[in-house]
This record gives sequence, C-alpha cells and structure tokens, in this order.
Amino acid sequence: MAKNIDWGNLGFEYSVADYRYVSTWKDGAWDKGELITDPTVHISECAGVLQYSQSAFEGLKAYRTEDGRIVTFRPDLNAQRLIDSCKRLVIPEISQEKFMDALDQLVKANSDLVPPYGSGATLYVRPYIFGSGPVIGVAPAPEFQFRMICMPVGPYFKGGAKPIAIKVSDFDRAAPHGTGNIKAGLNYAMSLYAGQQAHAEGFAENMYLDPGTRTKVEETGGANFIFVTKDGKLVTPKSDSILPSVTRRSLMYVAEHILGMEVEHREVLFSEVPDFVECGLCGTAAVISPVGKINDHGKEICFASGMDEMGPVIKKLYDTLTGIQMGHLEAPEGWIHEIK
Ligand code: PLP
Ligand code: COI
Repeated sequence: MAKNIDWGNLGFEYSVADYRYVSTWKDGAWDKGELITDPTVHISECAGVLQYSQSAFEGLKAYRTEDGRIVTFRPDLNAQRLIDSCKRLVIPEISQEKFMDALDQLVKANSDLVPPYGSGATLYVRPYIFGSGPVIGVAPAPEFQFRMICMPVGPYFKGGAKPIAIKVSDFDRAAPHGTGNIKAGLNYAMSLYAGQQAHAEGFAENMYLDPGTRTKVEETGGANFIFVTKDGKLVTPKSDSILPSVTRRSLMYVAEHILGMEVEHREVLFSEVPDFVECGLCGTAAVISPVGKINDHGKEICFASGMDEMGPVIKKLYDTLTGIQMGHLEAPEGWIHEIK
C-alpha cells in the first residue's frame, strides 16, 4: 500500500491496514495466531457475538518517537483489562504473552502506518475478542476469535485540544453490579442512543451519573473524568461501574509523582462539579480533552478555563503525559514497550 496519507488531517476513523492478526479458540484451546490480509470476518450466522453480544475489546496506541522508534504505552494494562473482560463475559482468556505477541506482530507488519513524529496522528490499535461459533440457547459460544486491527488516527473530538461542551444524560451506560467496569461491546451499544441525542443537540459527549442514585459523576461514553480544584488538586471519580482507564491511572501517577500534585480518587458528587476550576476527559482515544462547559438540563456549569483553550493544570498534565508517550520525556519504569 502506498502511504500517501495526509497525517495532519486524519480524523478518528476506520481505514483498512495491510495486515490484521487473528487467532481462533476451538476445542478448548487458542491456536497460534497469524497475520492475514483479508479485512473481512467470516463467521456463523448464529455466532454468539451476533445473537448475544458476547464481545470485548481494547484500545491502545503506537507512537513514533523523535528518533524514529515505535513505542506503545503500557500495553500490559490493556492485556490485563481484556483478560478481566473475558472472565466477566465467559470468553476463554488469552494470556498476556499472546496479547503482546499479537501487538508486536501487528504493529511491526503495519509499521509504515505509524504516523511520523510531530504529525499529531498516532496508530490506533484495536484488539477484540468475540463469540464466533453458533449458539441459539443463551450460552457462551463454542468458538471464539481474538483479533487485532490498527489504523492511523487523528483527534477523537473535532478541534483537537479545544474545549468541548457536554451534557448530563438521562440514560445510564452501565447498571450497578453490571459490566461498566469492563470493556464489553454491549456497553457501547447502550450508549449509542444517548450519544446520538447529545450530538443532535450540539454536545460532543454525555456525562453519565451513577446508575444507582444519579447523584455522583461516573464517566462519558468513552473516557473517564478528571477535575482540578481551586487549590490545584487532581480529583478523579471512583466507582465500581466505570472503566478503569489506563490514561486516568497514568495521569494520577504523573500528577502525584512527577508534578508533585495532590491526587484524590474518590466518589465525586455532581453537586460539587461547579466548585472545580478545570475539567477534562481522559482516555486512549480522547488523550485529554478539556471540557469547557456541562449542560445540566438547560443549566450551564462553565469552568473558569473557558471554551478557548485548556486550563493550565490540564495543559501541564497533557504535556507531561504525551511527552512520555511520544518518548521525549523519561517514562516511569515499564511504561514504554518498544516494537522491534
Ligand atoms: N471509559 C470508557 C467507557 C472507555 O471506553 C475508555 C476507552 O478506552 C476509557 C474510559 C479510557 O480508558 P483508557 O484510558 O484505558 O483508554
Ligand atoms: C479508547 O479510547 O481506546 C476507546 O476505546 C474509546 C472508544 C469509545 C473510542
């Protein structure tokens, strides 16, 4: 494939890479796995994923460093989270080693799709695992596929690092004791209708409140929240029904150990949101997207940082995190995995 790509103008969109990884689970074991060129999946018309949404996925990125190396950011945490998702969805687990082997093979084979350093684009890697064998009674599928695909992407939200406006949703994305804390495809199906409504009303995303009491902040459809207090503390919501974001866990570490900030990981009441001075969404796709205002049924909560640019604390977190990810700031031990 000729790589005539306008790296600076990519959106967050699917494109077909040269290679994808596939491994099949059958008769109680995963096969060795291989890279293939066919971008189409051939599965039973009665596959578990099609009938009962038995699927989980991950998202991580590969970056080109200033000196031309290709690195990934904490992929061991994505592997572990996929294993946790598999357990909860009765999908046969893959090992950390298998995940890493697939990642290494995939990114290496598609290395000319890893955007150049400084282009603002990255290679998004999407591992996913699903019931491919037929099942009609409600039960786990008899066969599964573990796949990994990749595509170069730009910013998740149009406008890149410009603050976004979001709204408080009347829908829930996850039930108490449900699947909010794993990366099940079904959680995202749950969020589509609410997401479409938010977009139609001119908002970039939804803020979901806790499904039990609707008094606490949970997360958005695809990212965790971070808040900054007047006295410069980083606060992130804690809940059993939100996804344990790799980005959020990394930012907490960066804030505390590199930037010397105080960090609180705790329940965040929706009623205290107006007291924060900065707000952002964090995730692999979102990186850190600043939130300028939150619309609560017509009532606006506007952050002091405004709608023009990132607030100063979030900017510092953003620069430090992306500096580590792109390889020009020293990373804590074990955070960077180089693809060789
Ligand atoms: N929350 C949800 C619902 C997500 O889909 C994601 C994306 O992966 C995140 C949070 C952020 O997680 P991470 O930082 O691991 O990408
Ligand atoms: C990611 O950030 O990798 C995600 O999976 C979020 C997704 C909604 C694009």
